[in-house]
Amino acid sequence: MNIEIAVNQIEKSALAHLDLNDVSFGTTFSDHMFIADYLDGRWQDFRITPIEPIPMHPGNAVLHYSQTIFEGMKALRRKDGTPVLLRADAHAQRLNKSAQRMCMPEIPQELFLAGLRRLVDIERNWIPHSEWGFLYLRPYMIAMDDSLYPIPSKKYKFVIITSPSSSPIYGKPVRLITESFYVRAVKGGIGEAKSGGNYSASYLPAAEAKEIGFDQMIYLESPDFKVIQEAGTMNLFFVIGNKVVTPSTTGTILRGITRSSFLTLLEDNGIKTEVRDITIDEVVQAYETGNLKEAFGAGTAAVVSPVAEIVHNGFVMSLPPISEQKIGASLKADLAAICRGEKKDKWGWTVEVHS
Ligand code: COI
Repeated sequence: MNIEIAVNQIEKSALAHLDLNDVSFGTTFSDHMFIADYLDGRWQDFRITPIEPIPMHPGNAVLHYSQTIFEGMKALRRKDGTPVLLRADAHAQRLNKSAQRMCMPEIPQELFLAGLRRLVDIERNWIPHSEWGFLYLRPYMIAMDDSLYPIPSKKYKFVIITSPSSSPIYGKPVRLITESFYVRAVKGGIGEAKSGGNYSASYLPAAEAKEIGFDQMIYLESPDFKVIQEAGTMNLFFVIGNKVVTPSTTGTILRGITRSSFLTLLEDNGIKTEVRDITIDEVVQAYETGNLKEAFGAGTAAVVSPVAEIVHNGFVMSLPPISEQKIGASLKADLAAICRGEKKDKWGWTVEVHS
């Protein structure tokens, strides 16, 4: 595929007015964006432009039927400052799985990677230097037909924007409550696709959980509300005895890339993992017998979010103090060390970006 990217670079970066050490997740955008259009059955017109609104007809299909998918990924720095992309191939593949489910055209992996590399190269100064800072990369695809007819669009836009963050999305250990009314996804639905509606569908349960003092809910599989799925934006891990257990991906939960990196790192560190159905009853039982040692959420934006407390049907499970929850913390440190180049990248997860 011939990938020529036209670049229109701004003269003065907005970075001059920003403290990269103090920017919260998702609130600030870098100077440029990558765009490609899908027209007449092919991707074309690859360009990097100053970040600007996307003009849209009020009848645009994406506004009405949510034919939209996205990825959440990161650019970080090696110790010497060189930008690196983390698990870019895996994100490209997952975007295409989401595209299949949502009846959208796939993005050739080389186009995805070329757009990403070029954009990150241009925006390299936006990658925070701080220990836990990152440049969040948000590739996404939207339907672009001006039509209210509820069928897949013929036109699409693939866009990449970037947003610096000085720290992961959740600042402190989270309090979680199990959800036994709302469901996030059912087998055969779109829970596995990274599609916008999966996230906005969580707003109401999350707001209700917040009202009673929780950060997020743990979704359980309907209709029995026993099998654990995931927290609103994170995959979940439980340390039970000497094993780390995480729910299997059976179509309802996101195939988290951080989740997959953690499973690999755990196995590499000789820690026993189990990927299987896990019920909330099993977690309660482990708690009652003193075997629930740790729980944490994992995601690109969250990295590792330690769990302080889980409440199920009024039963409060207080997890050990964060200083004793060592496994999540060591996974976070290992992944950061791989990105910084301090630990061997045995699996080729990082790609350096050079001009
Ligand atoms: C991510 O962790 O990248 C996510 O996709 C969660 C996001 C919705 C904040």
